[in-house]
Amino acid sequence: TEIPVLTIDGPSGSGKGTVAARVADSLGWHILDSGALYRLTGLAALKAGVDYDDHAAVAEIARHLPVRFEADRVYLDDEDVSLEIRTETAGNNASRVAAIPEVRAALLEWQRSYARPPGLVADGRDMGTVVFPGARVKIFLEASAGERARRRYKQLKDKGMDVNLAGLIAEIEERDQRDRNRKVAPLVPADDALVIDSTSKTIDEVVDLVLQAVRKAL
Ligand code: C5P
Repeated sequence: TEIPVLTIDGPSGSGKGTVAARVADSLGWHILDSGALYRLTGLAALKAGVDYDDHAAVAEIARHLPVRFEADRVYLDDEDVSLEIRTETAGNNASRVAAIPEVRAALLEWQRSYARPPGLVADGRDMGTVVFPGARVKIFLEASAGERARRRYKQLKDKGMDVNLAGLIAEIEERDQRDRNRKVAPLVPADDALVIDSTSKTIDEVVDLVLQAVRKAL
């Protein structure tokens, strides 16, 4: 029988990550943070001195990422990169390698293998459109650009990172433009996605809406 999948797509700072974690926790389902795979690919290529214009070489790195996930930490070649992959620079580098078709192809089956019983919550940009087109429930989370920048700022500050709000807004806008306008798997809601605007909603309210949608569909 088919494993139930809930996809949550949306731009950076829309609250996807937090909502996905809460919903997965509440349902007791597995979670796939697909953005982390692109962040790790960008970082691994950088550390290996591979130019992002060398698409074949970046794809080769994506195919053989020396990554290890352990509780809430992530290691690349035994180096703890949990914080390093969360910077806005790492997000921007992720979006550059994510525009390479060969990289997306290299990560596709790996992402699909995360669908295991009793279910999966998958968060990203193309979870509902490309990776899990047959998902039971699809959510697309939106929020205004200003609100998204504010949330990312708080998130990075809370991790003890040094951030500049104006620079952050510029980086988020650049990244979103690239994600929305790229040729492969652009950031768009799936035709059958439920679009939720979280700008003036609390996390609890969004989580409740998503859980309602899942319960209705199961
Ligand atoms: O979600 P997160 O901010 O960690 O994603 C980092 C970048 O990875 C995004 O800006 C996007 O370019 C890319 N990404 C993607 N497809 C996904 C998840 C992330 O292209 N499914």
